[in-house]
Amino acid sequence: MIAELSKPSVYMKDPQRVQKTMESMLKAGSNTLQVISDFDMTLTRFSFNGKRCPTCHNILDNSKVISDDCKQKLDELLKTYYPIEIDTSLSVEQKLPLMVDWWTKAHELLVEQKIRKDLLATAVHESEAKLRDGYQLFFDHLHQHSIPLLIFSAGIGDILEEVIRQNGVFHPNVNVFSNYMDFDESGVLKAFKGELIHIYNKREGALLNTGHFQELRTRPNVLLMGDSLGDLAMADGVQNMENILKIGFLNDKIEERKQSYLDSYDIVLVEDETLDVPNAVLLYLTGNK
Ligand code: C5P
Ligand code: MG
Repeated sequence: MIAELSKPSVYMKDPQRVQKTMESMLKAGSNTLQVISDFDMTLTRFSFNGKRCPTCHNILDNSKVISDDCKQKLDELLKTYYPIEIDTSLSVEQKLPLMVDWWTKAHELLVEQKIRKDLLATAVHESEAKLRDGYQLFFDHLHQHSIPLLIFSAGIGDILEEVIRQNGVFHPNVNVFSNYMDFDESGVLKAFKGELIHIYNKREGALLNTGHFQELRTRPNVLLMGDSLGDLAMADGVQNMENILKIGFLNDKIEERKQSYLDSYDIVLVEDETLDVPNAVLLYLTGNK
């Protein structure tokens, strides 16, 4: 079908379904396609040279805008709650209130730090955040073909926008749903805007943004990309969906989680730090291959 699907990092429970879906999507044409992607650990790398890469939150946590005392508290939260996020022995119902606690406590700590808006760009610039290899082709190709890309993130919108801006790929076809910071008139963080988006309420987040999906109602074919099972709900607002192809990055706790990822995502990419497969799929869907 596509050479990249033979990469050793690629797993599929039902390759025939993948093929059929891609064929229908190709037939429908790229003017009926929209892409919905998670940000942290989906568009960004999970690790680089054996070291973990930061999420949006971690970019701030590790930066100069946070005091040492607060860094320690944020680190303790990460050490407590990240293992829960990826724990396969707990149900979503069990994890959900704990994830709300994590996000709420972390945001409260960030607000206490009186972070200045004008320091965010430097924090991103000095961070170790990295978009996955192949990001340029991914963003540029979508832009060239006028395919809308929705980045749907439980991270921090101001930070993720800065990451894609500094990488030169914040094109006009990109929309972002995320947690945005609210600054006072002197540019100091005073709160987070709107409803909190965390890892397990992307369905609610999608349904709050019906206007976006209404605008894209002539694009009933969806390429969805995520790294968490919570990301599967990102397309719940899509109207009259015809086909969806779901690509999941499995970065951590591989053996424990592989089966559930195979049951939920059409294509599972195991420890694959590149966008090679999504790019190959996009080239195919836009008739370039
Ligand atoms: O963009 P995405 O939806 O993936 O962002 C959520 C990620 O942010 C989660 O996978 C979680 O591990 C991470 N996170 C964090 N620090 C927090 C809250 C969430 O690193 N305080
Ligand atoms: Mg993610």
